[in-house]
Amino acid sequence: MKGVSAIERMFMVIGDPIAHSLSPVMHRSAYAALSLSAWYGACKVTARDLPDAVRGLRALSVAGCNVTIPHKEAILPLLDDLTARARAVGAVNTVTLRDGRLVGDTTDGEGWLRSYQDAGAPSLAGQTVVILGAGGAARSILYTLLTDTPTCARVFVVNRNGERAARLCASFAHLAKRVDLVACSLDELRAQEVDVIINTTSVGMEGAQWNESPISPEFIRAHHWVSDIVYRPAQTVLLIEAEMRGAHTHGGLGMLVYQGALAFEQWFGVTPPIDRMMAAAKEALR
Ligand code: ATR
Repeated sequence: MKGVSAIERMFMVIGDPIAHSLSPVMHRSAYAALSLSAWYGACKVTARDLPDAVRGLRALSVAGCNVTIPHKEAILPLLDDLTARARAVGAVNTVTLRDGRLVGDTTDGEGWLRSYQDAGAPSLAGQTVVILGAGGAARSILYTLLTDTPTCARVFVVNRNGERAARLCASFAHLAKRVDLVACSLDELRAQEVDVIINTTSVGMEGAQWNESPISPEFIRAHHWVSDIVYRPAQTVLLIEAEMRGAHTHGGLGMLVYQGALAFEQWFGVTPPIDRMMAAAKEALR
């Protein structure tokens, strides 16, 4: 059996549950493609054990760590530094050890944007975007929409719990200088001309809600780009209905791969082979 090199850098993903995480296969496929001496594991960490686990990262000089459900928000006060976007979004999915200090960042929003652009979507400059949902994923994508330049013109945030959508918009009002940011109901959305619809809710995900869509198909027009961050299943009811109405569609696996690729870039200073990471993720999902 091949031994483990003493210079091998350690990386991992922490969360609970963690068994089905695609991060290990994605990152390991990039290490293999680039012949990197690095190790990537998946560790189940309960909410109670999170502070000990973070101290362990420091003690063991773990070079980098991805963070997933349910720790993305709880880990913030346990880290030494945060990037501006992690602080604004209030979530961390990537931790990097720099000079003995654990620095938290979030690559989810940029991951969505890079994947969306990679799908051949037109520039968002001047466009009107609808975000369905007002949770953590909505927050990370909204931050990117508001700070990436050139920015879109308008963003409507629509959520089952309307107050949560209003709170999200209010908390980002200071970032929305060039963007008209509005919380609205599905009914109010009917009267609006939109270009892009992004589902950030869990509706459509494998499990109890797999056969539901967060929005009625009558909202969807052939010129729309419809993006779903759900990737299990790859074809959600929303995307199937969007395709039937002639719209462009964008599935959620790309966001997952790109958020990992952006973490990789921070850790290794080079761009990983996205196609290899995507293929590894698809294979693991089969
Ligand atoms: P995440 O961090 O993945 O975004 P979250 O913060 O729990 O997870 O947010 C989940 C989002 O999915 C919320 O916008 C939630 O709506 P509420 O704020 O009204 O709870 C939305 N969501 C979940 N189940 C839903 C359903 N059946 N119909 C509509 N929206 C739903």
